[in-house]
Amino acid sequence: MTYEQAKALLEEKGQAHLLKYYDELDAAGKARLLDGIASIAWDFEEALANPADLSGKGRVISPIEGLRIADIEERYEEYEKVGVEAIKAGKVAAVLLAGGMGTRLGVDGPKGAYDIGVTKPLYIFEQQMNNLKEVVAKCGVIVPLYIMTSDKNHDQTTAFWKEHDYFGYPEADVKFFKQEMAPAVDYDGKIILERKDTPALSPNGNGGWFSSLQKAGLCEDLHARGVEWLNIYAVDNVLQRIADPVFVGATILHGVNCGAKAICKTNPYEKVGVLCMDGTQPDIIEYYELTDEMANQKDEKGNLAYLYGVIMNYLFRLTKLEEIVDQKIPVHIVEKKIECLCEDGVTRKPEKENGKKFEALAVDLIKLMGSVLPFEVVREKEFAPIKNKTGVDSVESARELLKGNGVIL
Ligand code: UTP
Repeated sequence: MTYEQAKALLEEKGQAHLLKYYDELDAAGKARLLDGIASIAWDFEEALANPADLSGKGRVISPIEGLRIADIEERYEEYEKVGVEAIKAGKVAAVLLAGGMGTRLGVDGPKGAYDIGVTKPLYIFEQQMNNLKEVVAKCGVIVPLYIMTSDKNHDQTTAFWKEHDYFGYPEADVKFFKQEMAPAVDYDGKIILERKDTPALSPNGNGGWFSSLQKAGLCEDLHARGVEWLNIYAVDNVLQRIADPVFVGATILHGVNCGAKAICKTNPYEKVGVLCMDGTQPDIIEYYELTDEMANQKDEKGNLAYLYGVIMNYLFRLTKLEEIVDQKIPVHIVEKKIECLCEDGVTRKPEKENGKKFEALAVDLIKLMGSVLPFEVVREKEFAPIKNKTGVDSVESARELLKGNGVIL
């Protein structure tokens, strides 16, 4: 893109301020700025002008049937056998969503490179790989791994994995792909300048993971390997069980398009999105969308009716994902603290929210899957999220949970 083209485009879009410092930049800076402008996905304008209706109005919400731990124990061996067979046959791959910015943890670089060790280094990526390698050892085959990064952390992430010898995994079985970037805007809809030569672009949420994987040409790799199921998981949870044979077997045997690992809510107001039905389709209802009545509703056994809290560990049927990949999922507009160029020419992260980002969320894929099986896990064994440095869902709380599971820190 030439300067003239950029200028014409930005004037038409009302974003000409992005060229404010152009004349001050050296040749490399000018090229970086023009590249950045060329990469802006302008569909954010539509999301801003006509925000998706996320009010949930018109939904007909009811509880969903799922598998409690007792149900799983009853058929444990049967589920495990089918899961192990599927994994042995190469039908299961893992997809790590690691394109996020980890703003709340507040560290530079990829969140998975964070060292949670105490007496020796133990990186988040490493701990998750230790879990995956247990399955590999049990089944005697490698579960291929696909890792989603973003422009913000791709080079650091790939370098980190290489430096650590892919945590004992064969390099050929770890593939990286980048998600897309959306601009961040201020409260007047103007794209924020992060640096004189860099518009503020940020990862567009984890909802586009499958289309990004497909655009990167990796579906061919999946098909060539005979993969039928994708186990997606978040980088935050250090107790994440990946390609868990019992979960895989249960999802296959129940004939659904998606299995969803879930923790059962311990109180009606726990802040976790829960699986539910919307009419005949599965869905997720956020805790703040539940009415008092729904939050406290009980089933015939006296358990909470809206029980199954999601923990971002889903097993998706590949053919179903391919079928729905072109269907639109809503764009969420979220207020965030966005690094920006200040009046004095210095780039800073503000202390409070200063603008909006545009994100599609993986949970919104659930409604498109047609059928979902909630699968309860023991919270203390499988859920240790790291969102913050201290307090709730933090490095501290995750360390305690790891210790409780015999992990030496
Ligand atoms: P979070 O919602 O916790 O977001 O992501 P985050 O960006 O990591 O952290 P904050 O909100 O800035 O503190 C849940 C999972 O989805 C991935 C994250 O890497 C994490 O594994 N994710 C999130 C992406 O892959 N891409 C995104 O654009 C956002």
